[in-house]
Amino acid sequence: MSQIAGGIFTSHVPGIGNAIAKGLQRDAYWKPFFDGFIPVHEWLEREKPDVAVVFYNDHGLNFFLDKMPTFAIGAAADYRHEDEGWGLSGFKPFKGIPELSWHIIEHVIASEFDPVTCQSMLLDHGLAVPFELCWPDASEWPVKVVPISINTVQHPLPSPKRCFELGKAVGNAIACWPGNEKIVVLGTGGLSHQLDGERAGHINVDYDKFCLRNIASDPEALLQHDTLDIVELAGSQGVEILNWLAARGALRGAVRELASNYHVPISNTAAATVLMENRETVLA
Ligand code: DHB
Ligand code: FE
Repeated sequence: MSQIAGGIFTSHVPGIGNAIAKGLQRDAYWKPFFDGFIPVHEWLEREKPDVAVVFYNDHGLNFFLDKMPTFAIGAAADYRHEDEGWGLSGFKPFKGIPELSWHIIEHVIASEFDPVTCQSMLLDHGLAVPFELCWPDASEWPVKVVPISINTVQHPLPSPKRCFELGKAVGNAIACWPGNEKIVVLGTGGLSHQLDGERAGHINVDYDKFCLRNIASDPEALLQHDTLDIVELAGSQGVEILNWLAARGALRGAVRELASNYHVPISNTAAATVLMENRETVLA
């Protein structure tokens, strides 16, 4: 009987990885962000999940602009990080759980989603930085990973509703997984940011606060904006909130927010961390 213990939602700014490498977590610039992970560490220490199902976006490492899957699910036994240009290195290798990946893939395809299935996959900062944030002192990652990449990079992007529904299909798949694993769901990226173009540096505190107010208790409130609305509101990379929506969709039953942190800016990004528990969902 598997169980989704909860969800961790976090920005994945590559500069965080460099700050960790340099030990700057207590530096005045970084401390307000890193302090947001104290309750996450306590919760992970208590819950000790076995598997992380991670909704994130690939930033040109696996999928470049010539081939861009809307949804891609990893089904490898092993993964490794590679740097797509941010100067990040030294991430520990990742263990997969191919039997759960295939179970999820079969279930979401039966639910009429058509992901690309990846028996080999490189993981970029969108997944590796959140792992380092969650398990900073681990000599090896204490969880196996199912990576699920959503195209938030090259238009046309999927709709918020579609991402939320994908998350629900993944949650339903986990619900009928016969294994005993305790699972944590991660959603990475956001909040508002735009890295290039005329609006580079764009941050929208009001929209971010709207998302943070609703993502646990009323995630469907976020579906009132379509993808291009979100680009306008949150910036061209702020649309990474689609990953959060998918991750939230995967949490079933009673969801309770345990902690939330918002700090502006980290690099060009309004950085946020949210922890949710999903205690009541004991799945057969
Ligand atoms: C930054 C944020 C991102 O989400 C990303 O993928 C790359 C860079 C930034 O703010 O520097
Ligand atoms: Fe990003």
